[in-house]
Amino acid sequence: MNEYTYLNGKFIKHKDAKIHIEDRGIQFADSVYEVVPFYNKKLIDTKFHLQRLRISLLALDIKYKFNDKKLISIFCKLINIDNIKNGIIYLQITRGVQPRSHVYKNNLKPTIIIYTQSKSFNIPNKNFKGVEVITHEDLRWSRADLKTVNLLPNILAENLAYKKNKYTAILIKKNRITEGTHSNIWIIKKNKILTHPTNNQILKGVTRTVLKLIIKKTGLKLKENSFTKEQLYNADEVFITSSGSFITPVLKVDNKNINKGAIGNITFKLATLYFKSVKKEKI
Ligand code: PDD
Repeated sequence: MNEYTYLNGKFIKHKDAKIHIEDRGIQFADSVYEVVPFYNKKLIDTKFHLQRLRISLLALDIKYKFNDKKLISIFCKLINIDNIKNGIIYLQITRGVQPRSHVYKNNLKPTIIIYTQSKSFNIPNKNFKGVEVITHEDLRWSRADLKTVNLLPNILAENLAYKKNKYTAILIKKNRITEGTHSNIWIIKKNKILTHPTNNQILKGVTRTVLKLIIKKTGLKLKENSFTKEQLYNADEVFITSSGSFITPVLKVDNKNINKGAIGNITFKLATLYFKSVKKEKI
């Protein structure tokens, strides 16, 4: 059961976890977050998540120092006391508490919140599922590379998709596909894989990073180039990646079927290889 939160050094029940009304996380979304998945109680790609957390903290000038081993031991303890097999660790670090002011003080004590959420992942077997998505204008700020909780444009686009009974929204900036509201997106055309390059317009997904390493070993061709909505519509295969859902085939974009609405072979192969690496995790 998702019952315990780690809040500022203590493991307490969710209902007892209280945040100060003048926490800058609430007032200004002045905070960073991470989502670390676990499968069979083993954390996945943790090293990359903690690296990215450091980058986000540094970029926002939030002075929170952590030790990887200690943080990992908190993650493991939460998984064990909640007794959950599959899910995600959600972690948020806010700049801290001060009377509301756009200018932040330098000596604030960051607030740290960590808890688990149960999840059943989309596993590449006979029950492997594909999804339908919509496209939507990318209205986010120009530092989408930082994992901050400043997520309103993502939330609004995602809820438009939800209202249309679709899985998620794929964002478009200046006629180029950037990424999903909570995933990176990839297309395959004539056996060549394309995904948006890492710059300030997308989040450098950990699943993306790991999948890149896997693709290298397969010998498949990968180009980190942006692509248009027309290229997306006309792709042979499309899939999205994220820690919350691993590799998910996309079978329809707006009103356009992809691969006649069937899961493509390359997508299935990559999802299988990624899942193999998930099962090798030791901690
Ligand atoms: N989201 N792009 C965006 C905008 C995201 O929010 C995410 C992840 C990704 C994929 O990154 P990763 O592979 O590291 O999960 C790309 C998480 C899961 C979330 O907000 O719940």
